[in-house]
Amino acid sequence: MLDDMFDHMAGLRDRPVWSPPPAEARARFREPLPEGPGDLAEAYASFQRDILPFGSGNAHPGFMGWAQGAGAPVGMLAEMLAAGLNSNLGGRDHMPIEVERQVLAWVRRMFGFPETASGLFVTGASQANFVAVLIARTRALGAEVRRAGLASGAPRLTAYASRGVHGCVPRALDMAGIGADALRLIEVDADHRMDLAALKAAIAKDRRAGFTPFLVVGTAGTVDVGAIDDLHGLADIAAAEALAFHVDGALGALAVLSPELAPKLAGIERCDSLAFDFHKWGHVPYDAGYILVSDADLHRATFASPAAYLARAERGLAAGDWWPCDYGPDLSRGFRALKTWFTLKTYGADALGAAMAANCGLAQALAARIDATPELERLAPVALNVVCFRHRFLSDVQNAELVADLQVAGEVAPSLTTLGGRTAIRAALVNHRTRLEDVETLVESVLSRGRAMLSAMAEEATR
Ligand SMILES: Cc1ncc(COP(=O)(O)O)c(C=O)c1O
Repeated sequence: MLDDMFDHMAGLRDRPVWSPPPAEARARFREPLPEGPGDLAEAYASFQRDILPFGSGNAHPGFMGWAQGAGAPVGMLAEMLAAGLNSNLGGRDHMPIEVERQVLAWVRRMFGFPETASGLFVTGASQANFVAVLIARTRALGAEVRRAGLASGAPRLTAYASRGVHGCVPRALDMAGIGADALRLIEVDADHRMDLAALKAAIAKDRRAGFTPFLVVGTAGTVDVGAIDDLHGLADIAAAEALAFHVDGALGALAVLSPELAPKLAGIERCDSLAFDFHKWGHVPYDAGYILVSDADLHRATFASPAAYLARAERGLAAGDWWPCDYGPDLSRGFRALKTWFTLKTYGADALGAAMAANCGLAQALAARIDATPELERLAPVALNVVCFRHRFLSDVQNAELVADLQVAGEVAPSLTTLGGRTAIRAALVNHRTRLEDVETLVESVLSRGRAMLSAMAEEATR
């Protein structure tokens, strides 16, 4: 199995980015529960035939859709070790917990957080943003809110984020019982960064109307275009208004590892909490989200619960002074820290940062190529690793069809978004395996597919 997976990784370029799962393969996964034992070799043969060739393709150098990490072989090996050990990292006194603490110490350093800051692996930035909203809720209303909830009489909390905020942030407010409507979506400037004057005006307006502003969410790499909010500006406003300042850095925060890119994230060290993903630009295999919190006491006060079965002992297995279950919603937790530790130990932070800078270089090259091509129109500035554009001579529907055609053809797989009411072809260059030739292939494929669509239209018109 190990050899086959190495071969699979080594041969990524020789296969399509994505192949739609065939009906026969899907049908074979509609079988009844196996009651008796089966043959491992047969199960593995099913994996090789029906699963392996039909993944989502994010490991492939031609994958440019959404915002997905490519993974790296060292993380795969660590996953095997972690599964073999099968540790539960909810708490208790064992060495895997020390590995998670080691990663926490590294994460504090990466982001310039105090030595007392707390942090935790979670599934992904969606969950990390949710944890951050709950901590900000405790900060605003006190830990009492955990018992009393937000029933009648509670202050009407409001939060603020740019129009480009990821959908998991309103959902976090929804899940926290505050309601997605409490998130005010602030206009952005030409660079898709939150308009600070509009933010101040929105806070003032809410205060006048009797709301209780409690949280500003900045984004370090918006999902649509990769824009980075003015984090110092947001930190200043949050401090002046006594609001919690959270940063969603799912897409871009790890760029602090590149000396070239780090200045774009200036001010990130001033946030109260930071959500980011090792499974995106850190190339740790899914899943490996992270929440970093400057005030460990507040963090703990948001989650720790007394329970007889979780009582700490002076000695024995129930000893240990740092139990992750005190800092998040999960009790049973896997060993996400191990694959992250192995990734950082083996490749080193500099190599990860260099791969990110290379992705941003490719994004600039792609932007330049688009700007020099009359058929193509760029739809947003390129601050980081995301490039949005369209084929000028095709309608929105046709641009969307073109993207689906490229995905099916399997050479490159961009995704779609909507910017200013227009359909955009979106290339997020996250993959350390992607090279200039892949970016060239994207442009050439869009142009040749576009030509084919236009000539089919012309033919149709003459009929
Ligand atoms: C800016 C941003 N925030 C949050 C998320 C959600 O992260 P996850 O998919 O790890 O939950 C994403 C995902 O792409 C994102 O780009």
